[in-house]
Amino acid sequence: MIREADIVLPYGVIKGDIAIEGEKISALGNVSGRAKKEISASGMLAFPGFIDAHVHFSLPVSGTRTTDDFASGSLSALFGGVTTFIDFTVSAFGGTLADNIEARLSEARESVADYTFHAEITSWDRKRSWEIESAIEKGITSFKFFMTYEDSGRRTDKGKLYHAFSEIARLGGVALVHAEDEELVKYFTNLLIEKGELDVKLFPKSRPPIVEAMAIEDALFLARETGVNLYVVHVSTAAGAEVIRKGKMDGITVYAETAPHYLVLTEGDFSELVSMCPPLRRREDSIALWEFLSKGVLSVVATDHCSFSPEQKKSFRDFRRVPMGIPGVETLFPLLFTHGYANGRLGLVKLSEILSANPAKIFGLYPRKGVLSVGSDADIVLVNPSREVKLEASCLHSKAGYTPYEGMKLKGFPNIVISRGEVVIEGGKFFGNRGRGKFLKREVSGS
Ligand code: URP
Ligand code: ZN
Ligand code: ZN
Repeated sequence: MIREADIVLPYGVIKGDIAIEGEKISALGNVSGRAKKEISASGMLAFPGFIDAHVHFSLPVSGTRTTDDFASGSLSALFGGVTTFIDFTVSAFGGTLADNIEARLSEARESVADYTFHAEITSWDRKRSWEIESAIEKGITSFKFFMTYEDSGRRTDKGKLYHAFSEIARLGGVALVHAEDEELVKYFTNLLIEKGELDVKLFPKSRPPIVEAMAIEDALFLARETGVNLYVVHVSTAAGAEVIRKGKMDGITVYAETAPHYLVLTEGDFSELVSMCPPLRRREDSIALWEFLSKGVLSVVATDHCSFSPEQKKSFRDFRRVPMGIPGVETLFPLLFTHGYANGRLGLVKLSEILSANPAKIFGLYPRKGVLSVGSDADIVLVNPSREVKLEASCLHSKAGYTPYEGMKLKGFPNIVISRGEVVIEGGKFFGNRGRGKFLKREVSGS
């Protein structure tokens, strides 16, 4: 039993108790009687466990692999209050979607947080339609495409996207896109190649905002034509978010995500260590992204956690070879709580929507996950809202060995994290068994 918490519910914050039986929430409000274990949460906020809808643990890329595997990545997630994460299957080694799902399930066995995957698709052809159906049978209902990265063989062209989107629409799934226009990326990259300007610090010049906005336009046209539910990952620019706003106004079913780094860092922070794709943008973009979040044009903040060590990042200077991506799963909530809520940009209910309810609804996990309600999984994050921490990478649990947010003063690090009724984090310690995380089988909406 959690006593006297300020409980963040979909319609407001109420003071009350949360009763847990087994893995589920059994009562909310003023709950009478005594329980076997009682937690006094007076002065603490109680949020539904956060869902990071975009992480890459154990990702092979650029001839290397991320430092975080599923054990360390999911532990880092729990310390940040992320009780559920969505990773991606890996298509680099060929195989059917079903093969890729089985391989990833086996890699994820050591996870301590609950999880599911988006199925990554990189070499679509029309004979593969049946694979979407088989993935859905396995509980994987969202499918990720890259509109760029041709050189590494990951790009899907528009004709193939059209066909794949049609199939996903027919079966009720969600199509995710990494939206960057390949022709524009090539144009801007070639300008840099001609001048020999390939240092990683110049990477942002290869992808100005038009690259993102034009690709999102294309994806929206395809979504309108095919009727697919579209989800645009890591939107980084005001221009891109504006295209999404117009698409929504036109009645297209499109959801969009941004990442904490696009909200709290800007182009001057981009460096060999703090390098990711899409790159960091101007201050005007981050200000606009907060606005788009508060207005509901952007529905989700997810981290794109992709952790490489400083040694891995620094082993190349040429931006075409640097493994892109930064760690972030553990700082997701503290960054949003500090820079979003404490700075007056987002209310508590909105914050909870963005980090729990929305990703759960979009990806078929609601109401099992994403909300504090009777019958839902007892995934609960208790936070003392006034406790502030000066961030140091050594206090985090990712194996990256650095954080892009070093030295920032952040509120919102959880005091207690409960996952399916089990206190897994308390007093800065993990209590739980390796491999306790569960794979979450999802269903398409309407089935
Ligand atoms: O730089 C990033 N984001 N790396 C991860 C792969 C991706 O494009 O999301
Ligand atoms: Zn991406
Ligand atoms: Zn990613």
